[in-house]
Amino acid sequence: MGTEFNQLFDEWAHTYDSFVAGKDDQYKEVFAHYDTILDDVVTKSSGTVLEFGVGTGNLTNKMLDAGYRVYGIEPSKEMRAIAKQKLPKEVSVADGDFLNFEVPEQIDTIVSTYAFHHLTDEEKRIAVEKYSQLLNKGGKIVFADTIFVDREAYDKTIQEAIAQGYNNLANDLKSEYYTLIPIMQSIFEDNGFHVTFSRYNHFVWIMEAAKN
Ligand SMILES: C[S@@+](CC[C@H](N)C(=O)[O-])C[C@H]1O[C@@H](n2cnc3c(N)ncnc32)[C@H](O)[C@@H]1O
Repeated sequence: MGTEFNQLFDEWAHTYDSFVAGKDDQYKEVFAHYDTILDDVVTKSSGTVLEFGVGTGNLTNKMLDAGYRVYGIEPSKEMRAIAKQKLPKEVSVADGDFLNFEVPEQIDTIVSTYAFHHLTDEEKRIAVEKYSQLLNKGGKIVFADTIFVDREAYDKTIQEAIAQGYNNLANDLKSEYYTLIPIMQSIFEDNGFHVTFSRYNHFVWIMEAAKN
């Protein structure tokens, strides 16, 4: 938990921004409309923001440009190093993860892009339960991530990746903890959130969950 993917992201950190720019064919569709996705996460946010899985700091920078105060959490040392180079010095990017973190003040919005699938469904439930205790009424979770409508859509996407010779993508889809919309919907609703899902490309949806 938390550190499981650190080696992968330590190695990926230095080329990550070329992937989000669509330079890798296998991940082109995953990162299609990347800037719009991040911009819409910013638009749906308000107040003081807690961001998980900061990566190279792309969403953080957009949040700062929009005038939000942001507390970043990122478990990969190399990702933190790159984010720190790209962000203003006063911005905090702390070591931690979706389940192990500290916040210095009341948080209004919890955001994350392309990262929540690193938790198992059981861990996702524990995380949302934690966030429910952290947020006041009206507080929000805004997560963009790969998620599937049902098991059939998930399996079909893996088969299509294999047929295209996209083996890295297929292995990624098989080995990380991508989940289904009905599962996320029940995790949010069981913890007192009203959630909506909006699709941005074949893989990525924004989940916007407001605390009742
Ligand atoms: C694909 S990158 C996304 C980076 C950035 N959010 C973006 O949208 O470009 C996934 C990030 O999630 C981080 N991560 C992996 N496991 C995590 C966890 N358990 N808690 C928080 N972040 C995690 C990785 O280190 C990596 O920086």
